[in-house]
Amino acid sequence: MSTLRTVKELIQPQTVIEGAGVRLRRAFGPTIENPLDPFLLFDNFAFNDPVEGPIAGFPNHPHRGIETVTYMLSGSVRHRDSLGNTGVIGPGDVQWMTSGRGIMHEEMPRRDPDGEVFGFQLWVNLPAAEKMSAPRYQEIHAGTIPTLERDGALIRVIAGQVEDVKGPVAEIAARPLYLDVTLQPAAHFAHTLPETHTAAAYLFEGEAVFADTSVPSVSMAILSDGTRIEATASSHTSARFLLFAGAAFGEPIVPYGPFVMNTREEIRQALSDLRNGTFVS
Ligand code: CO
Repeated sequence: MSTLRTVKELIQPQTVIEGAGVRLRRAFGPTIENPLDPFLLFDNFAFNDPVEGPIAGFPNHPHRGIETVTYMLSGSVRHRDSLGNTGVIGPGDVQWMTSGRGIMHEEMPRRDPDGEVFGFQLWVNLPAAEKMSAPRYQEIHAGTIPTLERDGALIRVIAGQVEDVKGPVAEIAARPLYLDVTLQPAAHFAHTLPETHTAAAYLFEGEAVFADTSVPSVSMAILSDGTRIEATASSHTSARFLLFAGAAFGEPIVPYGPFVMNTREEIRQALSDLRNGTFVS
């Protein structure tokens, strides 16, 4: 039987300061209650005012036990890590980073010629069995992300599948769906997905109705369980949102800054590995 997902919570992102003084819009962060299992954190980099001055970025910092997913729309992020990787995530590009047992990296946003930086970082949890796995990256260039057009809906498929179009991100434990959806005024979007996958939409342009709830920009709509997502842009403006969904792991978590593990002992171990210089091996 088909059941429609409704909006069970509407979150207004809060401004937070992270890294070396970077202003972000944060819709949610990791908590021990883990209500959006397997998703831990969602940040929106949105600097569009050059009077804010240079962006200090995120100097060298560790991660363990998670995946960080960076998706840029304007400007770029230069990154460099303890494995010797270095690169630039430009407009339309995605970096899906699986920290596994440990990575140290820096992430430095850069404005585009118009002075803008606009992008997103989502943190996805790893199940206990993969928290100490080898770190790895999936670097996805804009041109390799497939796009579908359906009745006024433009859908970029980053992860998961829409009709017969598969996103390039592969082999992620949470079996995620990650879409960037743009709707023309009054256009409709519908998607079928597993009933109990956690799902949310981050609406950042215009306005759309999900089931019977109007979702304004900028907000995160947390969706109820159900087999079907339906959204319709308002008749006077287009709408754009990220839609993500994934399978909950149902495991206890202990978040501590850039680490998310399953027990306090594992957090103590991460801190002691950092102190002893054995964090990255
Ligand atoms: Co990081």
